[in-house]
Amino acid sequence: MMSEEHEDDFVMAFQDSCDKPALLLIHGFPLSSSMWTPQLDDLGDYARIIAPDLRGFGNSDSVPGPYTITQLADDCADLLGYLNVATPFVVCGLSMGGYIALEFYRRYPEHVAGLILAATRAGADSPEGKAGRDKAAELAKNEGATAVSGGMLPKMMAAKTYENDPELVEFVQEIISTASLNGVVGALAAMRDRIDSTPTLGDIDVPVLIIHGADDTLIPPTEAEAMHKAIPDSELVLIPEAGHLPNLEQPDVFNDAVIDFLEELFGEEE
Ligand code: MLT
Repeated sequence: MMSEEHEDDFVMAFQDSCDKPALLLIHGFPLSSSMWTPQLDDLGDYARIIAPDLRGFGNSDSVPGPYTITQLADDCADLLGYLNVATPFVVCGLSMGGYIALEFYRRYPEHVAGLILAATRAGADSPEGKAGRDKAAELAKNEGATAVSGGMLPKMMAAKTYENDPELVEFVQEIISTASLNGVVGALAAMRDRIDSTPTLGDIDVPVLIIHGADDTLIPPTEAEAMHKAIPDSELVLIPEAGHLPNLEQPDVFNDAVIDFLEELFGEEE
């Protein structure tokens, strides 16, 4: 509850969810802020949630690439500045969003109260990985963005999710179908050229929550374990029966972990 001295000489009290600490949610490739629907639905009592569509994705403009991870981190910083978000806040990124979150921390450590690294890794692309990005970009240019994004769909979630939750699979398909060609090609270049964040890990001096699906085949859980070992103040939550999208596949477990983390950082909601 906040209050202000009103011009008619009385103190007017008001509630504004924007007084909560902010939580920046950065989506993965080739998704959009819609991937954070269960978090936008259920975490609003705990944080002011800001979930941008990165350039080229969702409802943001389809800006021609190539993009860089630095540029994508700066886009997020600009948005939070524009919204006048109180600092420090929590930055959460999933997969490519995690690459951006680590860059955000390197560039704006004073703005970051804590980091949530979901379904992501610290390392850069291997030479084969870089060649794979170029191949995927060629495919997208020749056959359209969905040739790449559609190809990823069967690998994004746990086998159980495909069996048990066709609605979720359809929802993810809808989200990835909104990725523009510029977005897909631009972000593939950004991921290909990203730097190795491993040397950053030991220097992170805010609490870090690492969340990973136990059945993630795109980025194996060993990557999360390695980050956990290297980051001094970190906690690892491995979520069973979740693949690369644990926030959608097991939203309650994911949200509980985030709520605990926010409460540890900022104190419990009254
Ligand atoms: C993502 O989910 O953001 C991407 O799969 C990450 C990557 O390709 O490195």
